[in-house]
Amino acid sequence: YVLGIDLGTSAVKVSAVDHVGRLAAQAIRHYPLIQPKPGYNEQNPDDWVKGTEAAIHYLMKNSQLQPESIQGLSYSGQMHGLVLLDRNYQPLRSAILWNDTRTTQQCHEIMDKMGQSFIKITHNQPLAGFTLPKIMWVQENQPKLWQRVAYICQPKDYVRLKMTDQLNVDYSDATGTIMLNMRTQQWDPKILKTFHISRSMCPPLVDSTSYVGNVSEACAKLTGLSTKAKVFAGAADNAAGAVGSGIIKPGMMSTSLGTSGVVLKYEPDKNVNYQGQLQCEDGAIPKTYYSMGVTLSAGESLRWFRNTFLKHEPMKDLDKLAMKAPVGSNRLLFTPYLVGERAPYADTRIRGSFIGVDATDNVGDFVRAVMEGVGFSFRDLANIYRKRGTHVKSVVAIGGGSRSPLWPQIEADMLNTNVYKLINEQGPGIGAAMIAAVGLGWFPDFQKCAKKFVHFGEVYRPRYNNVKIYNHLYPVYHQIYKQTALLN
Ligand code: XUL
Repeated sequence: YVLGIDLGTSAVKVSAVDHVGRLAAQAIRHYPLIQPKPGYNEQNPDDWVKGTEAAIHYLMKNSQLQPESIQGLSYSGQMHGLVLLDRNYQPLRSAILWNDTRTTQQCHEIMDKMGQSFIKITHNQPLAGFTLPKIMWVQENQPKLWQRVAYICQPKDYVRLKMTDQLNVDYSDATGTIMLNMRTQQWDPKILKTFHISRSMCPPLVDSTSYVGNVSEACAKLTGLSTKAKVFAGAADNAAGAVGSGIIKPGMMSTSLGTSGVVLKYEPDKNVNYQGQLQCEDGAIPKTYYSMGVTLSAGESLRWFRNTFLKHEPMKDLDKLAMKAPVGSNRLLFTPYLVGERAPYADTRIRGSFIGVDATDNVGDFVRAVMEGVGFSFRDLANIYRKRGTHVKSVVAIGGGSRSPLWPQIEADMLNTNVYKLINEQGPGIGAAMIAAVGLGWFPDFQKCAKKFVHFGEVYRPRYNNVKIYNHLYPVYHQIYKQTALLN
């Protein structure tokens, strides 16, 4: 078996997978989000470690799996998180996450100092939530703490460090820092120098499939794993999700409904550069690439709505409520900009809204409007691709939200495209397991591995009448951004 460890924003999920891609056991542990101020999103790195160890421990104890049967493991990790460590590899503060939007000013500073050359080097526009502007925020706001920083790493790299005593960053997560030079695939000396980051703070770069060490004795004791289990570097969650959903060939696209929402496309050529309109990243398969548009609050919008207004309703019952509402939610529209937005608008100050509330609207209309608002945002992202000539003919739906019986249909109708679901696991976890399987040499490449590990289930096709309704509402949805931006 291999373990795929999916370190998400709301929880860590560990999946044990056998030689032919069958899911043998799964365990999940949730951890809190720290939101001390509007736009601030942080987590305690040790919560990730404890959660991961507890999930593995539970999985090993409650399944028939013998310690030695787990031959290897790897990771999928939430991206862009700023984890600052001292000389003894201890975190100096809570991690500042990908959906933290405090760094508008620092993003401007990056462009003021480096201009278009920055986009040329990284193929990305500096956006709040990426690692570099958050480093600058700490330099400016916590200078004493900054003096003590010895290492900078990404969330899953910290968890891997605590499980193996080895610190590395894989290329897919390194691109998400916007400190990697896309051409040379090295930490960029000019960026490091301009923003006063010492080279020694940046961990060695490795491929996602690189073997980085074994499970340490301390970790073996805590989890029930064997110290013979080999650990492979792993990938950024969107990169792992892409391989886990078979997005490994030109032309293939996925949509992810996790805490964030993502429309992603495989890119065979690293010279692809959307001038910052879309993100460009290294893939989990060495020397492959992908682009994506990210909406910050997808699953998070639904979670927020439920936590705020429907505390006692289990998440899974929200579908039932939404299914009672008509397509278009009685013309109740929602924009999902709860913590600001990244794409198609790089706007940290915009906030969400409900528009068109009717006295007869019930809670189902609101839940459906939230799901449709995320769908509209996906349509905005897909349109960036369409405007550049990409034919979006089908997508694979991944992430926890794709388990919903309703949300993938909303996507199909919004995007007017076929939406395929995965069987088994929702993408990133199986992707992490595939990285371990390829790393162990079970398969010569990801193509062969995908044949065994990636299985498509239901397909949702666009329904003509629903498409018509969304076509009618979309221009109105589109106006909301412009009008509510005036509130800033
Ligand atoms: C991608 C991004 C999010 C996180 C979620 O750029 O910020 O999708 O990776 O974990």
